[in-house]
Amino acid sequence: MQIIDGKRIAAEIKAEIAATVREVIAAGGRPPHLVGLLVGHDGGSESYMASKTAVCEQCGFQSSLIRKDVNISQEELIKTIHALNDDDGVDGFIVQLPLPKHIDEQAVIEAIDYHKDVDGFHPVNVGRMAIGLPCFRPATPSGVMMLLERCGIETRGKHCVILGRSNIVGKPLANMLMQKASPGNCTVTVCHSATPNIKDLTLQADILIAAMGSPEFVKEDMVKEGAVVIDVGTTRVEDATRARGWRLCGDVDFDRVAPHCSHITPVPGGVGPMTIVSLMHNTLLAAMGKVYKKQ
Ligand code: GUN
Repeated sequence: MQIIDGKRIAAEIKAEIAATVREVIAAGGRPPHLVGLLVGHDGGSESYMASKTAVCEQCGFQSSLIRKDVNISQEELIKTIHALNDDDGVDGFIVQLPLPKHIDEQAVIEAIDYHKDVDGFHPVNVGRMAIGLPCFRPATPSGVMMLLERCGIETRGKHCVILGRSNIVGKPLANMLMQKASPGNCTVTVCHSATPNIKDLTLQADILIAAMGSPEFVKEDMVKEGAVVIDVGTTRVEDATRARGWRLCGDVDFDRVAPHCSHITPVPGGVGPMTIVSLMHNTLLAAMGKVYKKQ
C-alpha cells in the first residue's frame, strides 16, 4: 500500500512553475498576476486566501487580494469584476465562494471574463471541458488528475466510482476521467444522495473517489482489495486535543481502509495541497496565453 504524498508532489509542481516563471522573466516578461476577491470574513475562505498568497510567492507570482464588505451589493461586486476583466495587468482572478446569501453566485461567476476564469467555474470553461476543448479546469479535480498522473496510476479501462456530484468536484471529475485522454479513458459511475445500494457500486471501483463531505463515510467493507482511493473530503470536526479545537476529516475511514488499497490519499496532505497548485498552474497558463491566446 502506498500513501500518496500530495505535499511532496505539490512541492515538485510549485518548483516547476517557479522555474518557468524565472524563464519568462529572464526573457523580459513580467510575473503572472493572480487576484483574489474576498467578500466578508468566512473562516475557510480567509485561510484559503492566506494559503493562496503564500503559494503565489513561492511560485514567483504577483498576488493581490481585494477585500469587500459583507454587505456589498451584487451590482457593486459585478462592477469590481468588470474592472478586473478590463485590467491588462491581471492574468487571472477568483471570487472566493461562498458569497453572502443576498448575492447570486451564478450571476457573479458569469460576470467573470472566461479568459481570466482560472477557477474554471464559468459556463464557457465548463462546457469546453465537457467536450474536451482547451479550457481552465477547476482546481480540485485538476489536482486529483495530477496526482493520478504523477503517481503513474493507470486509468485507461478502469472503473472509477465517484461519491458526490458537486459542480466543483464530482461533476468535473467525472467529465475529466471519461475523456479520451491520459489520465482518463475510465468508465465512470457517479453516486449521490439518491443512489441506492452505494456499497454495491463502490465495491466495483478500481478507483474510488470520495467527495461528498461526509466524514469517514467510506469503510473498509466498501472497498475492493487493491483499489486506489482518493479522499477529497475536508470537513472540520471538533477535536479538543488540538489547540485550535478542530481537525480536518476526510470522507474515508483512513486507518481501516488503507490496508486494503494499492494507493490512498491522506487528509490532510493528499488532495488539499494540490488544489492551490492547480490554481497556480491555471494562472501560469493564463499569463502565457496557453489556453486562450492573449487578447
Ligand atoms: N471555495 C471553496 N473552494 C473554492 C475554489 O476552488 N474557488 C473559489 N473561488 N472558492 C472556493
